[in-house]
Amino acid sequence: MKIAIAGAGYVGLVTGVVFADLGNEVICVDIDPAKVDAINKGQSTIYEPGLDELLQRNLEEGRITAMTDLQRATREAEVVFICVGTPPSETGEPDLKHVEAAAAAIGQALNGYKIIVNKSTVPVGTGDRIRRIIEQHRREPHDFDVVSNPEFLREGSAVHDTLYPDRIVIGADNPRAAMKIVELYAALERPMLITNLATAEIIKYASNTFLALKISFINAIADLCERTGADVTQVAKAMGYDSRIGHAFLQAGLGFGGSCFPKDVQAFAHTMQRYGLDPTLFQQVLAINDARPVQFVERMRARLGGLQGRTVGLLGLSFKPNTDDIREARSLEVIRLLLQEGATVKAYDPVAMPRVQAIYPAVLYCRNAYEVAENADALALITEWNEFRQLNFERIRDSMRQPNLFDGRNLYDPQRMRKLGFYYYGIGRAAENSEFKTVL
Ligand code: UGA
Repeated sequence: MKIAIAGAGYVGLVTGVVFADLGNEVICVDIDPAKVDAINKGQSTIYEPGLDELLQRNLEEGRITAMTDLQRATREAEVVFICVGTPPSETGEPDLKHVEAAAAAIGQALNGYKIIVNKSTVPVGTGDRIRRIIEQHRREPHDFDVVSNPEFLREGSAVHDTLYPDRIVIGADNPRAAMKIVELYAALERPMLITNLATAEIIKYASNTFLALKISFINAIADLCERTGADVTQVAKAMGYDSRIGHAFLQAGLGFGGSCFPKDVQAFAHTMQRYGLDPTLFQQVLAINDARPVQFVERMRARLGGLQGRTVGLLGLSFKPNTDDIREARSLEVIRLLLQEGATVKAYDPVAMPRVQAIYPAVLYCRNAYEVAENADALALITEWNEFRQLNFERIRDSMRQPNLFDGRNLYDPQRMRKLGFYYYGIGRAAENSEFKTVL
C-alpha cells in the first residue's frame, strides 16, 4: 500500500518504518527539513532501540523516503496518516493547530479517494473536524474517509510496541475504510477492535487516564502506608495478584511525567467539563501526582533540618529510564523546589543532562553517581535507570557528608540500606520510616 505520514516524530517515524518493513511504500513528511534530511540519510531523529537498523534497511530497499511537502506526499498515497503533535494550550486543552494544518494540506491535495487516518491524540469529535476541514479545502469533490487509529506505543520500546501491540483500534464510520486499515495491520496478527470514530478517540484517552489513575491510586495508598506503618510495595504486590487488578502501573513513587499522561489526563478532564460532566476524578489524579515531588522534598527538609546550605545529589533526570525526554519530568519539580529553598543541587543522568542544563544551569552536573554523592547531605533517586541498581553503596556512604538516601522510586531494599548505615526513606514504606507514623 502507498502510505503518507504527516509528522515524523515518535509516533510518525516509528509507524512509518514499521509499515515500510511490512512491505508498504512509505513517505514520511515533516515540516522540519533537518529531520527530513536525517531520515533520508538513515538517521532517526529520536533515540529508540532498533529504529535506526529498521530505517536503514528499508531506505536501502527503497520502501521509505522523507520529504517536507505534505501535498505531494498525499497525491501519491492511498492512505494518509496524521501523526503530528497536540501539545497542551494555555487552558490545558490540546492545541490542534498542527492537526488542522495537516488536514487542510491533505484536503488541498486530494486527487482521488483516500483514507485519512488520525493517530495524533485528540479529543473526541476531532475526526469529524478533520473531515470538515478536508471538505472545505478540497478542490474537486473527491471522496475520502476519516479513520481514528490511536497509538499506544511507549517511549523506549516504541518499535517493539508497534510490532506487537496489545490491541489495534480502528475507528471509522465507513466499514470500507475500516477494512482497508485492517488489511494494513493484518500482517502483525494482533487483536483488532473495529468501532466508530468517537469510540476510538475516547479509547485512547480512557486508556492513558486509567493508567495514570492507577499510579495516583497507589501513591494515595502510599501516603496511608506512611502514616500507618504499612509497606506500599507489599500492598501493591498482593493487589496485583488479583488478575482483575494486575501488577502493572502500581509502582508508588514520584509519580508520572512525560509528554502523555499529564497532558492527556488534563485534556480528558476538559472534555468531561465540555460535555457537562464531573471532571473531579481526573483532576484528583493530577492533584495527587503534583503533590509527590512536594512531599518528597518535604521529607528531605525534615530530615536535614532545613535545606538552606545543604547539598542534595540527584540520580536520574529523565521522566523515566531509557529516554532523554524530560518533558514533565519529576526531576524538574524536585530541582525547582530544592533551589528555591537554598540547597545546592548536584545531578547525574546517563543521557538527559544537557536538556536539564538548558533549564537549570545552576545545578552541578556530574560524571557519575559517585561524583553526585561526594559531600552530599542527601542522595535522591529520581529515575530508576538500570545503572543505579547495583551501585557500590559502601563507597557512596563513605563519600557523603551524611548518609541520607531518599528513594523516589522504591528501587532499593530498605533493610540492606539501613544495614549499610544509611538513613533510608522510601515512598510509602513506613515499616522502615516509623517517624512518619501517626498514632491516633
Ligand atoms: C504512555 C503510555 O504508557 C502509552 O501506552 C501511550 O501510548 C503513551 O503514553 C502515549 O500516549 O503516547 P509513556 O509516556 O512513554 O507512555 O511512558 P510510561 O512508560 O507509560 O510511563 C509514564 C510515567 O509513569 C513515567 O514517568 C513513569 O515513571 C511513571 N510510572 C509508571 C509510575 O510512576 N509508576 C508506575 O507504576 C508506572
